[in-house]
Amino acid sequence: MKKPFVIAIDGASSTGKSTLAKGLAKALGFPHVDSGAMYRGVTLYVQQHGLIENKKVKTETLLSQLDDIHLRFEGDTFWLNGVDVSAEIRSMQVSEAVSLVAAIPEVRTFLVAQQRIMGANQSVVMDGRDIGTVVFPKADIKLFLTADVNIRAQRRFDELSAQNTLTSVAEVRNNLAERDHLDSTRAESPLVQAADAIVLDATQYTVESMRDHVLDLVAERLN
Ligand code: DC
Repeated sequence: MKKPFVIAIDGASSTGKSTLAKGLAKALGFPHVDSGAMYRGVTLYVQQHGLIENKKVKTETLLSQLDDIHLRFEGDTFWLNGVDVSAEIRSMQVSEAVSLVAAIPEVRTFLVAQQRIMGANQSVVMDGRDIGTVVFPKADIKLFLTADVNIRAQRRFDELSAQNTLTSVAEVRNNLAERDHLDSTRAESPLVQAADAIVLDATQYTVESMRDHVLDLVAERLN
């Protein structure tokens, strides 16, 4: 069997990581794992079970229930305990709480273990915050995406509007800025660029030109 080829994509929210990851996965025939969906899935579980109050997660109770949380990807569909929650995990309500849940070390250990299994025996494109630093420090290619916060806010706003979510660009920008801060300053696996990551400024590319550029890099490494 050919050795699995792991592509790790990290960067802040709404820099286009998932779009790039999906494009690469499709072109290469690899599965795509959106690790952010997993943190969002645990957050939705927390909200459904009343495990958050006044921005405080009831951590002990959550940890005692971790084994009851079953997450699964099926193509672009994401399942939480047998229910398709692909749309629900993108809500502003989940976005506003997810950084709190993602900062809990035991939640990270729980999800990182599952992410490692997904790339252990098969090639994969995985995107998130700590994929090149923690989940797959030996990934075959590591990419770190950046983009101007205003462009990121507009992208996310357009996505939410397409789903008929009532919000404003300013509200989305504030949420992004707050999450950037929480995600990069948390003690456990903060968002940092791996020393050997290739930095891509999404503002400089179209979706297709970025994908094609990365496909060239992948082809070089595969040969
Ligand atoms: O990529 P996203 O916006 O869907 O991610 C949701 C949240 O999950 C984000 O605020 C940070 C967290 N996250 C993380 O801590 N580590 C990852 N590998 C992926 C996401």
